[in-house]
This record gives sequence, C-alpha cells and structure tokens, in this order.
Amino acid sequence: MKTSFVILVSSVILLIGCNFKKDVKRITQDFNKDWKFRLGDESEAFQMNYEDDSWKTINVPHDWSIEEGYKNVEETAASTGFTLGGIGWYRKSFRLNKEDVHKHISILFDGVYNNSSVWLNGNLLGTRPNGYSSFQYNLTPYLKHGDSLNVLAVKVDHSAYVDSRWYTGSGIYRKVQLIKKSPLHIANWGVRITTPKITKEYAEINIETKLENTGIKNPKNITLRYAVQDSLGVSVAFKEITLKNELQSSIKLEIKKALLWSVENPNLYTLKVEVLQDGTVVDNVSEKFGVRSFNFDANKGFSLNGKSMKIKGVNIHHDAGALGAAVPKGIWEYRMEKLKSVGVNAIRLSHNPHAVELLEVCDALGLLVMNEAFDEWHLPKGKSKVYLGDNAASEEASKAYPEHFKEWAERDLKDLIKRDFNHPSVIMWSIGNEIEWTFPEYSKTFNEVNKDIMADSYHFTPKYDSIAIKAILKKNVGANDELANTAKQLVKWVKEEDISRPVTCGSVLPSVSIASGYGKAVDVLGFNYRAADYDAAHKTYPDLKILGSENWVDYMEWKNCLERDFVSGVFLWTGFAYLGEAGPWPRKGLNISLFDFAGFKNPRGHFFECLWKEDSKVYMVTTPANESEFSFDKKKGWEFNMQLTPPPVWKMLRKWEWYKVYSKWKYDEGEPIIVQTYTNCEEAELFLNSVSLGKQKLSDFNEDNIIKWQVPFTQGELKVVGYNNGIKEKEYMLHTNSDEVAKISLKANKEEVYVNDITVITAKLLDDKGNLITTADKEIVFSISDNAKIIGIDNGWEKNVQSHKSNGIITHQGKAILIVQTKKEKGIVKISATVNGVKSKEFLITVP
Ligand code: GAL
Repeated sequence: MKTSFVILVSSVILLIGCNFKKDVKRITQDFNKDWKFRLGDESEAFQMNYEDDSWKTINVPHDWSIEEGYKNVEETAASTGFTLGGIGWYRKSFRLNKEDVHKHISILFDGVYNNSSVWLNGNLLGTRPNGYSSFQYNLTPYLKHGDSLNVLAVKVDHSAYVDSRWYTGSGIYRKVQLIKKSPLHIANWGVRITTPKITKEYAEINIETKLENTGIKNPKNITLRYAVQDSLGVSVAFKEITLKNELQSSIKLEIKKALLWSVENPNLYTLKVEVLQDGTVVDNVSEKFGVRSFNFDANKGFSLNGKSMKIKGVNIHHDAGALGAAVPKGIWEYRMEKLKSVGVNAIRLSHNPHAVELLEVCDALGLLVMNEAFDEWHLPKGKSKVYLGDNAASEEASKAYPEHFKEWAERDLKDLIKRDFNHPSVIMWSIGNEIEWTFPEYSKTFNEVNKDIMADSYHFTPKYDSIAIKAILKKNVGANDELANTAKQLVKWVKEEDISRPVTCGSVLPSVSIASGYGKAVDVLGFNYRAADYDAAHKTYPDLKILGSENWVDYMEWKNCLERDFVSGVFLWTGFAYLGEAGPWPRKGLNISLFDFAGFKNPRGHFFECLWKEDSKVYMVTTPANESEFSFDKKKGWEFNMQLTPPPVWKMLRKWEWYKVYSKWKYDEGEPIIVQTYTNCEEAELFLNSVSLGKQKLSDFNEDNIIKWQVPFTQGELKVVGYNNGIKEKEYMLHTNSDEVAKISLKANKEEVYVNDITVITAKLLDDKGNLITTADKEIVFSISDNAKIIGIDNGWEKNVQSHKSNGIITHQGKAILIVQTKKEKGIVKISATVNGVKSKEFLITVP
C-alpha cells in the first residue's frame, strides 16, 4: 500500500514537472500477417517494384518444409526428415502512420531458416546464415513516409537441404515484429536483470540498461524510471535515476520478502523501465524475471534456492511434429505441461537456439533450461541420406553452419545470451554438443588409450590417467588443439556477456576432453551417455561438476545418477519424438521419447513417471514371448537379451529405443505373453478376468524396475493392482477390443480457448464396450465450424507421412489429434469427427 502511494505521488509530481507533454510509448507491432510467398528463386524479387501479385498470401510463422509434406525424392534426406529445402522468397508491403516520421523503426525476426537476406525498398539490410538466431535490422534510413508503400523482401536460401542432423524447417518460421520507438531508446535486449543477493528479508535486484540514441543531439535530462510489479500487478519496488552523459546505467533495487522462482512455484515479477527526456516518457520496455539462486557443487550436485535437487531433464528439438518448426506458444504449453505431468523439471534445448515462446512457457511453468548454441563448430558432422548412420548426404546438399562458424560464432552465441538473459528458467549456457566427433584425433586418442579394455564404445569405464591421455593426445593432435582452443574462446565470449550462469557442453569423450583442457574450460561438464565414467571422473577430478547432459531413456541411467550425490541430474534423449535423424523411408523421425509426435505418452513416459513422480501409479504393456527381449525360465528366472536394431539402420540405435511393447490385450488364444508392469508401488498383483495370477514385489526386479509376468493369452480383462503396505493404491486395466468402431471420443487439452490461441483435440476410436481400438487403423475425418481453423493433424506415429495439413488422417493404434487455432471471433467452436459412417458427438470449445 505504502509503495503504491509513493508511486502515485511521484507520478503526479512528474506529470506536473513535465508540463503535460505527451508520452511516446514504444509500439511493438505484430508483423506476421499478409506476407507474399514464393517457393523458388526469383533473382529480382528484392526490387521494390517487383510484381508479386501471383504469389501466395500467407501468414508467418511459416515453414514450407512441413507445408510441402514428406517426400521420398532425390531432393530430401533421412537426416532432415524427408522434407524439402530450396530457396523461398517472402515480400511484405506496408505503409507508415503520420506519427512515425521521427521514429526509429526496426524489424525483429525471431528465426529464419536459413541464410536469410533482407531488403527494404531494394536496399540490402543484411544477411544471417544461422537459421536459429534472432536478429533485427534498423529500417529507419530507407523508410518511405506519407502515402508511399514500403516493401520488405526476404530471401531464404535453404538449398542445402541436409545441412543438419535433424529436421530444421524452412522459411520465416518464427514471429516477426516491427518496433517503433523514439530515436532515444532502450537498445534491443538492452535490459539485464540479475538477483545476486537473496535473503529471507529481501532480494537485491541488479539492473543494467543500455540506451541508444540515433537522432537526438546532446540529449539532456534523461531519466530512467524502474518499477517492479509482483505477479498480481502490485508494485513492490521503484527507482528513478538521472543519467549524466552516459547511455547506460546500472542500478540496484530491493524487493522485500521476495517470492522465489522455483520449479514448484515459478513466481515471476515484471520490471517496467521507462526512459524520460525532459520529463516526458520517450521509450519503455517490460521484462519478466524471477528471483532465484542456484548452484552446482562437485560433491553435492545441483541445488535451487539452497535446496538440493536432482535435475530430471529431457532433451528436446525445436520442431513440434505436425507443425514442423512453426510452433505457436499454445503448443509449447501443451507439450511442456505434458513433460511436467510425468515429473520432468528441466529441458535441454538441443542443439541450437529455440523460440522465445518456449522459454516464456518454461519460466511460467517452472522448468529449468540448458540453453545450447551449437551442434557443430567449424567442422561438420556426417549427415544421412537414406537411413540414420549412412552419412551419405552429398557435400553440396549438406553445406552447413561450419562454413560460417569462424565469422559468425561470436555474434550468434552472444545474441543468444543477450536475447535470453532475463529468463529465470535458463540456468546454463551450453557451447556445444558432442563436438569431439568432429575432431577424429579425440576418438583416436580414446581408442588408443583404452585399446586393452574397450568393449563396445559406450559400455566400459575408460581410463582416466590424464598423463597418459595427454601424451597420446599430443602425438595425435600436435601443439595446436583446435577443439580445446575453440572451447576456451567460446567460454570467454559467454563470460563477456554473462557471469551469473555456468557454461557447459555435452561431452561424449569426457576422459579425453578433460585431459585436453576442453572439459576444464567449462564450469559444469555434461556427460553424454557416459554414466560408466562418473566414478572415475569424480575420483580423478574431485573439483569437476558433473551432469548427465544426454542419457538413454533407461532405468540404469537414472539409478546411476540417483546413487551419486555428485551427479547433478540427467537429460533423457528425448522428451518428445522429433522429426529427422531417421529413415529409411517412411520413417520420418525418431520416437525414442517419453511422448510421441502427437503428444501421446509412450510406455517409457509411463515408466519415468513412476520414477519421477510422488503419486502412486501402476501401468502395464504386453509383448508376445517370441518377440520379447525378456524370457522366463523356471530355474533361471527372468533373463534379458538385447536385440540390436536390424540393418540398415545403425544397430546401436537400440540403446536409445525402448523394449518392444504394446499397449493392448489382444493376441491368439493361449499365446504366451510377457506382461511388463511399471509402478512405484511396493507390490503389484495381476488379475486375468478377475482371477489373481499372483502378487510380486518391485524390489525383486532391481535390474530394470519392471515387474514381469508370463501369461497365456485369454481374451477379456487384464488388470494390475498396485499396493503399498498391503493397501491397494492404484489399478490399471487392458481389455480385448473388437475392431468395429462404435463410438468416437473427442477431448481437448483446453475447452476454453482465447482468440487466436490453440487447442489440441484428441480423438479415440472405441468399440461397443468402450474399449480403445488399438488394433485397426481407420480413416477419421474431422469437421470444424468456420470460426476456427485446423493447423495440423497427426496420429503420432513415426512412419506417418500423410499430410499434416488436412482434415482427415488414418489413425494409429486408435488415436489421432487435430490441432485447432481459434480465429478472432469469440463464441463457440464446433468440432465433430466421422469414421466409416460413425459420427462423434459434437464437441464444443468456448472462445471467451
Ligand atoms: C547423440 C546426439 C544426439 C542424437 C542422439 C541419437 O549422440 O548428441 O543429437 O543424435 O545421439 O539420437
């Protein structure tokens, strides 16, 4: 109350002081509508008067790779998900308002994949090779005022259609904003907030502000006004300072009894900064931030706000299945909520800058973020043409970022840090992923050092004798170790921007990399698939801060972390299925994840939910005994024999895949079936048609945490019940289904959806008893009222290469999703679906 009163009084005084001159606030204009687009090169399309009437009118974010669909043709490849690249042109005409004459006007692109060039009225503003960086151009010198039209032209050159190991998308796939501000203004990404001191009584907030002046001569009386509001909009801190001649400031504020940002309570504050010149507001920005502290400790692992916790992380790529790389914020909410629901508390943004909207969602939901810049430095990794691991993409088609690294790395890295600085979710900057693979001398050294003990390359503890490693490395690398030197340079650049967060990397050969100096250049060393190294690394380098940056979705990976306080956590590969890195056709992506492309929880998602959530849970899946990697013998008990992935795909991919399992109870009568139960209850009991098949203890299945049964199939109901202290906690059932659709159930993740927002409709095909039809795929056709539109359709399957831009699809295991975007009208959206003449009930979405 007191603070608000002070603010009110000071505002009144200021108003009197400024002779009621009109404030000029910054205008950030959505610049996404009505672009003209053409796929193909048009060398003259940068010219202002170029005729673009025949081009398609589209809105951005726009990803032409996903729009064009999956294609098994010469111009597509397995690494990038069998989608087209090519050259595309975008043009947008616009007029300015009268008030804009003296303004500084810039354009901000959140992401254009890739090699973009931007012209305004025929003048080249710049080029940007990196398709994940956000960038802006000053339009002011070339703008036409009055009635004249301005024309922006953007060329996107993604002709190297296999320039990545995963799906990239093509085009202006993130949002665009036109920003109008006074010539004296706060620089782009010009406000930085840190919370260096947090006590029970107060939190100290440090704010650095950078101004730019592009037109006002000798500006005098510049004042910066800072106000912090809590999540309810109540003012909690305020400060005003007057600048002398400088165009930057560094101030401290205090928030009394600040509410902390944490994964359980992601409390956010808003900082409003205003620039005043002679008492008039000339610019303003607003930044969300959180008050939190965290620490990585070489012995005790990770802690947030002083509380030890394990990082339960997953990796994710930047696509969202059916929508490709053009992902609305509502989809990130949908996906991140799903991850949280199984206990995930962190994500690694592999292996490139992701969308700002995703970071906003992580801030709001309480997900920690490892923010990563690169997968390649100046040397490329192999890219696959037909199937994962063939590395057969032509040199021309796979020309990638390494060509630009030397010139652009500093800019791209620093821009990422500048852009994402204030997000409380971001706790680390990663300078690269498995860069060792691009320096064969590192693998050679690893192989030579370990030649007497080496099993398959991941499954043994390598030697950590740093003297021996250094000697061999020196022989192989020579005096100039480019990997270690580049790492040190990148770390230096990060530190020039941010000393409040640690630098990390995903290291795949830590034993060699620590000895070389690469691993020691970073503050926290991420181990990719190297749990077997943890103890040796910790013993040899007691000061090393260790984290699992990439881990198999596998029980032992978690157990190895859980049993070691010094390991800060894990990042499973991956949280969601992702496009690319797959093949052979029609496998367009990898589903080695907790959730599939559509967001359906995979069995391994259920498994990790049992490990990572406190709530009791029991779940089960089945496999015919002759297909299963598990076998049961009365004398020997349960045995496991891993079946490696058959060629032509890289056989070790099995390590990333889950056991072969089905979520169904429908086999041949009498067929022996292995039932796997995932639970966090002490005991589970299996019932087949109400007859108990016995109770088993979870602790008897130490190796993999899966309670197993072998059961001869009989149709009906298979039920598993979980018990703690002998008391029933939870149950889960599978029923034998028929293949005849009797009913279609529709559900939405949100039934109340604001204008221009997203909801995901899940359709399930049910038989006459209400059982999910898991065993027959049928075509489902949706219809939707005019006040909303379909932006994607999917069935979640990695081999689904049907168009995502349709109202119909063949289901997979009885399910499909429809991604719906509301338009600008309020009201009721009606959705229904039909399968073989069976129609669903009309499903209603309210647009308030
Ligand atoms: C890792 C790599 C990831 C991904 C994964 C396999 O080694 O860092 O980007 O390729 O293997 O899917």
